[in-house]
Amino acid sequence: MSKIAKLHINGSQYELPIVEGTEQETAVDISNLRSQSGIITLDKGFKNTGSTKSAITFLNGEKGILRYRGYTIEDLSEKSSFLEVSYLLIYGELPSSNELANFSNEIRSHTLVHEDVKSILDGFPSRAHPMGVLSSLVSSLTAFYPKSLDPNRSIEEINGTIIRLIAKLPTLAAWSYKNRMRQPIMYPKNHLDYTSNFLYMMFGLPTVETEINPIIAKALDKLLILHADHEQNCSASTVRIVGSSHASLYASISAGIAALWGPLHGGANQAVIEMLEEIKNQGGDVEKFINKAKDKSDSFRLMGFGHRVYKNFDPRAKIIKKAADDVLSQLGINDPILDLAMKLEEVALNDDYFKSRGLYPNVDFYSGIIYRALGIPTDMFTVMFALGRLPGWIAQWKEARENSEPIGRPRQVYIGHNHRAYKNISDR
Ligand code: SDX
Repeated sequence: MSKIAKLHINGSQYELPIVEGTEQETAVDISNLRSQSGIITLDKGFKNTGSTKSAITFLNGEKGILRYRGYTIEDLSEKSSFLEVSYLLIYGELPSSNELANFSNEIRSHTLVHEDVKSILDGFPSRAHPMGVLSSLVSSLTAFYPKSLDPNRSIEEINGTIIRLIAKLPTLAAWSYKNRMRQPIMYPKNHLDYTSNFLYMMFGLPTVETEINPIIAKALDKLLILHADHEQNCSASTVRIVGSSHASLYASISAGIAALWGPLHGGANQAVIEMLEEIKNQGGDVEKFINKAKDKSDSFRLMGFGHRVYKNFDPRAKIIKKAADDVLSQLGINDPILDLAMKLEEVALNDDYFKSRGLYPNVDFYSGIIYRALGIPTDMFTVMFALGRLPGWIAQWKEARENSEPIGRPRQVYIGHNHRAYKNISDR
């Protein structure tokens, strides 16, 4: 017997089905509310509104749980690899060794991008932020693969687009960095693994032999796993809603990159380091900045703190914090910014303002410290987030297409002028 919710409004009663997920999450399905009653719901920022049913990622914000297709982030970040996690998110199951080998080889053979991409890249000034360059270059892929414009083509062709995107994003990301540095671009070396190839294209120079430190490559692989998906966050919702108009996967991912760029979302990892450097440059007075963050008249926020879903520790932050410690000690780096971050966390977590609001460090609070240690420049941090989030975005886009979800088109409550007659300019 399916459960129902009863809504009483203006003397009428409406019955709405209750939906329950496999982790006992419960929702009131309001799909027919307006047709029954003419009434809609309102929920700014969709803080309490589910946009879909999804089988990809499960979060429990109160318990700090994060699972990709049922596997915990703790297990996957410890035992898996980024390409294996990408396969899991996109196709729903962990691959066999043959499936993983085929997937990896497919990706290796598509890492090059069309030579004409270089002339698009050359059009950007060196001060262009790599996220803006990356979003544009991903969108430009539709020009080189026009068949990808139709998202309703065969599974094989959709898969080809998926493989190309996973293969080429590191190349485009590294080239965005080279454009920033006004250095010559580096072509991929396909004997290298996924993260080593990216690091080679980022830091390699045509004039010297480039050795990739396996500690750095492994740390980066773990970071990419930790960023791979996070259910219906701002950028994933953007990818789904752009894809819902049957725009191509490249166009949808380009939009997702743009959404991730914002400092309240993926751009926070860059903002955290800039905030910590500001605190350090002003003498390291942590209390002063904690008070600024609590002061409603001050627009300053503690970047890397707080989360829409996690009202307890973000499980990724815990893993990244330990990884930051490990990577810095393995590389023999003593970064005062890490010490400052730990001091800031300690003071904030003992302050009732943060505790009472469930404001804990999120995925972005410590990730920038590792990126710094890996030699990645600050304005490339969010590009790193995009590299990690790509398989999640692809999985979300693919799931929505496979479920034939309708075009996303929210309603509104109009609060503007009522009808009024046009006035000629001479009468205004
Ligand atoms: C990501 O959604 C995802 O899953 C995202 C992500 C992913 O993997 O895709 O996890 C990645 O985007 C992580 C978040 C990165 N952003 C930041 O670190 C920016 C700083 N954090 C905040 O701006 C904020 O916490 C958000 C945007 C993350 C969440 O904002 P919400 O859920 O809209 O919460 P809110 O702004 O309504 O805040 C609730 C209260 C408010 O105070 P009161 O009105 O109750 O007095 O908490 C306060 C806020 O002022 N608050 C903060 C704060 N975050 C919230 N106060 C100071 N510093 C902060 N960082």
